[in-house]
Amino acid sequence: MQNILFTGAAGYIGSCSAYHFLKNTNCNVFIIDNLSSGFIENIDFLKSHFKERVHYINANLNDIASIKGIFSKYKFDCVVHFAASLIVPESVIKPLLYYSNNAKNTIDLIALCIEFGVNKFIFSSTAAVYGEPKVLPVREDNILSPINPYGSSKMMSEIILRDCANAYRDFNFVALRYFNVAGALSDSNFEKKSGLGQRNKNATHLIKVACECAVGKRESISIFGDDYDTKDGSCIRDYIHIDDLALAHLSAYEFLSTNCVSEVFNVGYGNGYSVKEVINVVKEVSGVDFKVLQDKRRDGDPANLISDNAKILNLTNWKPKYNDLRYIVNSAYLWEKSLKGSDV
Ligand SMILES: NC(=O)c1ccc[n+]([C@@H]2O[C@H](COP(=O)([O-])OP(=O)(O)OC[C@H]3O[C@@H](n4cnc5c(N)ncnc54)[C@H](O)[C@@H]3O)[C@@H](O)[C@H]2O)c1
Repeated sequence: MQNILFTGAAGYIGSCSAYHFLKNTNCNVFIIDNLSSGFIENIDFLKSHFKERVHYINANLNDIASIKGIFSKYKFDCVVHFAASLIVPESVIKPLLYYSNNAKNTIDLIALCIEFGVNKFIFSSTAAVYGEPKVLPVREDNILSPINPYGSSKMMSEIILRDCANAYRDFNFVALRYFNVAGALSDSNFEKKSGLGQRNKNATHLIKVACECAVGKRESISIFGDDYDTKDGSCIRDYIHIDDLALAHLSAYEFLSTNCVSEVFNVGYGNGYSVKEVINVVKEVSGVDFKVLQDKRRDGDPANLISDNAKILNLTNWKPKYNDLRYIVNSAYLWEKSLKGSDV
């Protein structure tokens, strides 16, 4: 039975990915998370379903001695590294926090993998590494030109992974460049308020914030910028359902297990929707006409980001199932309704 280390799996994407690993393989999952933006409820959900196959360790990745102790105690087959700081505007104001938590902690984690012979590493990267791509949909070989410290910290981590994979023959990685993820685990039981989804207290993601408006948790939503060179002046993004994104990690694991080479993959559907279109779909799905405000552009927001996903479709067994904005929005809305009354 394989032991897989998940960093940051008390968070949204990590917990959903751990769920799919546990459901589809017989692995043990070890989770390191300091709960800085994660939730113990997500760990409890995993434990309630998969019992003693889930091991949680509350630790900060910057505590190298503790993390080394964990590597000494358990023999890991693979590390899936989600833990990071990820709020783009905050990264502009606090760049050192982002370079430290995202790039430096990734270096230390890779070093431990090399020291302890952990040869498979799956990394949470982001479309933010592309900055403002000139050619859309954007391919993995597009020049990387991030326009905020968050994107730069992820690009640096990718470069470090690439150089380490070149230097240490047995060490291989897959970096998954996520586009905009939304929705909740489809296996959730929304009526029983049991499941996995986004729980952030100060959410910034569009679909989450719009659903919070629809359930009455917020009064209004702001559209940042209406003068972008796009079909309706608002930014365009490629939205992917959390189950498909989570299952891409399992495909990456299977890829690393059979190929022993390193790769970088976009994970998106290749469809672009504007902020205004998404808000309208949330209004239609929920039947609630909430207030929408027009605000100025935010620093660090590219106008247009759409993935070319041909590479992951061709090289791995990943088969996305939920390429449908209404399905994604409905899933996020049902989750938000189920959270009503809780403080997240
Ligand atoms: N959410 C998105 O739209 C999106 C898009 C692209 C990439 N990503 C990447 O996906 C990953 C997961 O994002 P998410 O949306 O699940 O975020 P999240 O905030 O829900 O999860 C991050 C988790 O990491 C933990 N963590 C952070 N720093 C830590 C540290 N030093 N030590 C231990 N634990 C720590 C947090 O407590 C949290 O549980 C991140 O690497 C992020 O950059 C997310």
